[in-house]
Amino acid sequence: MTSFIIDCDPGHDDAVAIVVAGRHLDVIGVTTVFGNSTIENTTRNALNILDGAGFEHIPVAAGASGPLVGLAKTGEGIHGKSGLDGATVPRSSREAIDQDAADFIIQASHEHDDLVIIAVAPETNLAIALERDPTLASRVSEISIMGGSTTHGNATAAAEYNIYADPEAASIVFESGIPIRMVGLNVTSTFGVTQTELDRLHAANGIGRELAGALQFYLDRQTSTYEHSYAPMHDTCAVIPYINPLWIEYQPLHVVVECAGTHTRGMTLCDTRGSVIGGENENSQTANAKVAIMADADAIIAQAIADLSHD
Ligand code: RIB
Ligand code: CA
Repeated sequence: MTSFIIDCDPGHDDAVAIVVAGRHLDVIGVTTVFGNSTIENTTRNALNILDGAGFEHIPVAAGASGPLVGLAKTGEGIHGKSGLDGATVPRSSREAIDQDAADFIIQASHEHDDLVIIAVAPETNLAIALERDPTLASRVSEISIMGGSTTHGNATAAAEYNIYADPEAASIVFESGIPIRMVGLNVTSTFGVTQTELDRLHAANGIGRELAGALQFYLDRQTSTYEHSYAPMHDTCAVIPYINPLWIEYQPLHVVVECAGTHTRGMTLCDTRGSVIGGENENSQTANAKVAIMADADAIIAQAIADLSHD
């Protein structure tokens, strides 16, 4: 049976991804990292969400408070000061375990022979784990990344936030040799939860009602910041392949992370030329990732709402 670790920075869309994954997958742990807010906030939010959704058995291991290089750039503009503004989830009585995120990942790779890491945040924890144990890559079945894009960014015109927040870490992960699925903004920013679905959640039970206020906050920020009429469920898309492999279509592509570009630092350069110029050529490169190119938006959003709406 496949075991899953969710590496995240809750974060409104992370919260939904945690609930969806917990409803369907054997989640053996959640590791937290800086990103949408500080490591203290993302860790507290992860504990509250897990307990609020009935997943008190899933441990939380806290990780990096900043990137490998430079200073942390948090996403409070979208997620608020707490990282989960608008939520009414009760405060969990639990704390994170003593082990840090990287050691938790390394230990889990020894204890589980089919381990998938769902990485929906800056990839600092994974890079630290790979550097701390160079043999780790041989014991991870797949990494499912929400990050990057085959087209535009959101943190900058070129870079998506999770990659932009720690490009060096992302480069280490993409170069690790671990099989990678990448779902980027070219897919995840094209659909989401609308006001109609949110109105239903406000009337739901349990975690759905407790997160409804948070998702309302998130939708309002998405509308004011990006003029979206929906709240993208970026991170849930990284969970979907393990729930229904037909809902997102992936294409094998070569992906490299730009770490030095003056204007493009944090960009995921996806080599799509093979499809443009008719196949292999002297400049095309071996694919190192399965990159999402299409999604069944209605099915994914219906699944997320259903998973939020029942205890
Ligand atoms: O660009 C979207 C990503 O950045 C998502 O993971 C969201 O939670 C933020 O971390
Ligand atoms: Ca995230």
